[in-house]
Amino acid sequence: MSAVEIEIVKDLEALSARAAELIADRIRGGRSPFRLALSGGSTPRGCYRHLAHLHQVPWENVEIYLGDERFVPHDSPDSNYHMIRQTLLAGEAVAPRAIFAVPGDGAPEAAAAAYEEILRQEYGASRLRAGLPLFDLQLLGLGEDGHTASLLPGQPVLEERERWVAVVPEGRREPRITLTYPALESSRLTVFLVSGASKKDALARARAGDPSIPAGRLRPQGDVIWLVDQAAAGV
Ligand code: 6PG
Repeated sequence: MSAVEIEIVKDLEALSARAAELIADRIRGGRSPFRLALSGGSTPRGCYRHLAHLHQVPWENVEIYLGDERFVPHDSPDSNYHMIRQTLLAGEAVAPRAIFAVPGDGAPEAAAAAYEEILRQEYGASRLRAGLPLFDLQLLGLGEDGHTASLLPGQPVLEERERWVAVVPEGRREPRITLTYPALESSRLTVFLVSGASKKDALARARAGDPSIPAGRLRPQGDVIWLVDQAAAGV
C-alpha cells in the first residue's frame, strides 16, 4: 500500500531547501542507477540551486530525466533542460551518470518517439510492470488550472494509456513533450512541489483525487509526498 503524506513549510525558500534535502537523502540511500525525473516551471528552481550545493550526494549513481519539456531549442530560456543546466548543473560538483534531455529540434512527434525509446531502453522492457518502477523519484509541479507535467486540461493526451511520451500540440505558446499517465505513475516516490496562494484550489482538488483536473487523475504506484508552502496549503 503506497503512503501519501503532506509536508507544509513556511514559504518558497523553505520549500526549496527542504526539497533539496529530501532528494539528496533519497539518492544517498538509493540504488544505482537512481532514476530521477525532474519537473520544469519556476517552482523547482530554488530546489535545484540548493541541491547543486549539497555535499556527499553520489551523483555518479544518478540518471536525470525530464517529466516534460517545451518543444524549443535547448539554449532557449523557455527550455526546462536549459533551466536545469542553469541551476542544478551549474556547479562542477553535480556530475550525473547520465542526463537524458528531450530533443528540442526536428519534429515534435519524432522527439516524443525518441524520448520514449530512451525510456524503454533504460527501463529494459517494452511494458511498464507493476512493482518495477520506471523512476526512483520524480518531482512534479502543479499549475493553477490543475495540470501537472504537460498533462494540460482538455487535451487528448489525458486519454493516452499506451505511449509513455506524447506531444501536446495545443494549450501553450509552444508544443509540449510530456510523459503520459502510465509513465508518470511508475515511480517509487513522487514529490509534488507546490507554492503560492494561487495554487490553493488546485492543490486541494489534486490531493482529493478530483478527476476533473489532470493532476487529480494521476494514480502514482509508489509513495507520494506533497511538499507545499503555507500559502498553497491555505494555513
Ligand atoms: C512546465 C512544468 C509544469 C509546471 C507547472 C507549474 O514545463 O512548465 O513542468 O508542469 O510544473 O506549470 O509551474 P510553476 O512552477 O512555474 O508554477
